[in-house]
Amino acid sequence: MTFSDDLLNWYDKNARVLPWRVPPAARLSGSTPNPYRIWLSEVMLQQTVVKAVVPYFSKFLTLWPSVDLLAKAESNDVMAAWAGLGYYSRARNLKRCAEIVYRDFNGQFPLNRAGLLNLPGVGDYTASAIAAIAYNENVVVMDGNVERVSARLLALNVPLPAAKIEIRQFLEPIVPSNRPGDFAQAMMDLGATICTPRSPLCVICPIAAHCKSFGNDPARFPVKPAKKAKPSRKGAAFVVLNEFGEIWLQRRAERGLLAGMAGVPTTDWSVKHDGETGANAAPFAGNWVHKGSITHVFTHFNLELHVYLSRNSKTFGHGWWANDLAKEALPTVMNKVIQRAISNEDQSND
Ligand code: ADE
Repeated sequence: MTFSDDLLNWYDKNARVLPWRVPPAARLSGSTPNPYRIWLSEVMLQQTVVKAVVPYFSKFLTLWPSVDLLAKAESNDVMAAWAGLGYYSRARNLKRCAEIVYRDFNGQFPLNRAGLLNLPGVGDYTASAIAAIAYNENVVVMDGNVERVSARLLALNVPLPAAKIEIRQFLEPIVPSNRPGDFAQAMMDLGATICTPRSPLCVICPIAAHCKSFGNDPARFPVKPAKKAKPSRKGAAFVVLNEFGEIWLQRRAERGLLAGMAGVPTTDWSVKHDGETGANAAPFAGNWVHKGSITHVFTHFNLELHVYLSRNSKTFGHGWWANDLAKEALPTVMNKVIQRAISNEDQSND
């Protein structure tokens, strides 16, 4: 049996049941996936694991069952529904992309990889994934799972991303032209459930017979590049809580980190720059109580934010009093700040 046969036989019996997926048996008897669902799931799955995506995917489909409805939605509702998934430029591109598909393509997604690549937020990976999964276009799809499985199969001594060239050369001739979408999803499922990053389950692996690192510590692959330490940044965040239990929120600038999302006022930290960390940097002088600090890991740096609370009804700048945080487009770091500010333990140390 070839590698692809063994992989697809395994997938036919063990494919994960996912809300956007057409199961292999149905796919083989002619059911085609809905491109809107495949696009939405693939955008959500960029940088995020399946388990985290499933509830967001279901929420989006309930709120906006078609690309036309998403195109007509209020941007802020889309950002609020996305809040917590991270990498917020994906949500802005998602909305822009829906508007373009609705306005310029009559609500139909382009029918091949080349056409899909013109859409905002749809790069090489996403275009290939949609083309393979939704349209069975014969293209290679390479995400982190596919790369890890392939690096182990080939026992590649080259780190990523350089190894991508060899991985592509390995995959191109073996993608079965009748099932490229299932092949891609089978590689992803194998990577997520058996060929996992730390402790691969080689004893139950359906493609062990084809694997050059089988029995020889496959978890060494992909080999790691020499790693640069992630920089650490600091700043301060200021939570104003009024007598009605409402919190003063502002919309963040349209550019930069967490662009366009809601948040409490903070000092001006960035990937390259520490912000002020004391109460003297607050937007107004007042009874600021230091509530300790929270940490948050961004892609390019670790952030520590000192959290200050003021019980006050002063407003400043443009903003609004929020009484139901679940309705706001609050990124995870801002939720951590607010939870810390309103927690009872007073961690004041100054
Ligand atoms: N990760 C990214 N896309 C996926 C898919 N279609 N199936 C499983 N895992 C995935």
